[in-house]
Amino acid sequence: MSSIVTEKLSEAVGVEVLDVDVDRLLNDDDLPGATLELLEEYGVVLFRELCADDDTQAAFSGKLGELAQFPLYPNPNVMEISFDPDNPNAEYFASNDYWHLDGFMDEVPAKASILSAHVVSEEGGETEFASTYAAYDNLSAEQKEQYEDLRVIHSFETIQRLTYPDPTPEQLAVWARRGVREHPLVWKHESGRRSLVFGAMASHIVGMDIDEGRALLHDLQERATAPDRVLRHTWSVGDMVIWDNTGLLHRACAFDRSKPRRMHRSTVVGHESIK
Ligand SMILES: [Fe+2]
Repeated sequence: MSSIVTEKLSEAVGVEVLDVDVDRLLNDDDLPGATLELLEEYGVVLFRELCADDDTQAAFSGKLGELAQFPLYPNPNVMEISFDPDNPNAEYFASNDYWHLDGFMDEVPAKASILSAHVVSEEGGETEFASTYAAYDNLSAEQKEQYEDLRVIHSFETIQRLTYPDPTPEQLAVWARRGVREHPLVWKHESGRRSLVFGAMASHIVGMDIDEGRALLHDLQERATAPDRVLRHTWSVGDMVIWDNTGLLHRACAFDRSKPRRMHRSTVVGHESIK
């Protein structure tokens, strides 16, 4: 089929594949494999102004791996992300503003997320990406040794409290049911690469004074998400962005939530737990 022509999106992260349309998305047999390779190398892959519908998105996403199911949505392969009052998960989407990886409370985090813009904000609502591989690679040799065996407690409550600082007992009970996870700070991937696991869901470091551990997590996040290390994608209707959820953190930038903005996400399930 046709050759893959790419253009880097920033020094740190991301690549655009040029000249992709819906027909090519569905019928270019080389594209899924090439996309997976680009994800490993660049973290983020963009197909600009594709305007794929849910079935098309799901068909392509399914060529990247097994898809997570979202039974509360009309097409269970695709979650709709919006603050529309009838969106069953609207309450939790506010926390998308904080650096996170998708499925961080699952036994195995998602491998990749695929996001299409259906309705975009006039202002704000960009998505930012920061490499957690680079976060590890940029540590000094001494820090790498120092952090080698640290373990971090993550919880749904930690990230939700940023949006709801005074939760009701009902909210606390719902959050608690999502559980608590302990992960190593340094993820030693099967590929041999290493990344750091932190973000707004990280509560504290095991065996370290709580404040000291939080200060270290905060410092790691600040360095990894400095503006020159971040890709900020400004959405046009129809853009499809795919990211390697195992080697990146992402977040949504602020926008007016009283105005419509709707993104459709499909998710390729992971096969590798954090270890
Ligand atoms: Fe997300």
